[in-house]
Amino acid sequence: MNDVIELLQSHRSIRKFSDKDIDQETINAIVASGQAAATSSNVQATTVIQVNSASDRDQLAAFAGGQKYVSTAGAFLVFCADLKRSAQACDSQGGEFTQGMTEHFIIATVDVALFAQNCAIAAESLGLGICYIGGLRNKPAEVSELLKLPENVYPVFGFCIGYPEQDPEIKPRLPLSSVLMQDVYTENVLQPGIDAYDEHIRAYYRSRTGGKKDSCWSEEMRALVGKESRPHMREFLNSKGFTML
Ligand SMILES: Cc1cc2nc3c(=O)[nH]c(=O)nc-3n(C[C@H](O)[C@H](O)[C@H](O)COP(=O)(O)O)c2cc1C
Repeated sequence: MNDVIELLQSHRSIRKFSDKDIDQETINAIVASGQAAATSSNVQATTVIQVNSASDRDQLAAFAGGQKYVSTAGAFLVFCADLKRSAQACDSQGGEFTQGMTEHFIIATVDVALFAQNCAIAAESLGLGICYIGGLRNKPAEVSELLKLPENVYPVFGFCIGYPEQDPEIKPRLPLSSVLMQDVYTENVLQPGIDAYDEHIRAYYRSRTGGKKDSCWSEEMRALVGKESRPHMREFLNSKGFTML
């Protein structure tokens, strides 16, 4: 269709990186591209921590459950939802920050996601590969302590960037007819879409792993949403001031 759409549709996460360094100018351009994303009410609730210390990166890799590419990628960023800056601005104008609003939490988290995805596209447009690291939320308190994150700031995810040393296949997505509905929510498209996708992704996993991985999306969803997921997040967020009022 055009080069941008082609780039977007050729995304795949990269988990093996070459030793080649990424210069700071490139990182700055990527993060400035993140800043250019739309932001709810111009709140700009994202702070990015570029983690340079090898030992800190090793610790973050361990917190994320032993994901070694956190250590080996050319650069590692932690994307934080940050209401502290807005609170400070509010207070400087004689206001009083209303802590703990669920709506503010949603605004800040959405802002971070939009910012980060702009960074992903910018990086990929430069021939770099990326991988989001939600695994940091395994140990959010430990991550926060290491990065000295204050109240009203929480780590949403990490982000590996580097020159790819692998060329994985693009992972297929659900059929468009499952995710694009016209006018109203159409429940009867769900199951046919799931069935078609289960078959498609099973074939993809088999081919990618030489037959070793033989599972489908429904099985993955059973493992994911069929049990509690990081139940510590609620208490952690409360402890950082995100009390969901
Ligand atoms: C918020 C978020 C968190 C993620 N966390 C991890 C992670 O901790 N480790 C990992 O290897 N991949 C992680 N991923 C990558 C997803 O597994 C990946 O995007 C998904 O399987 C689709 O594959 P693709 O990106 O190659 O198209 C994460 C992706 C997102 C958006």
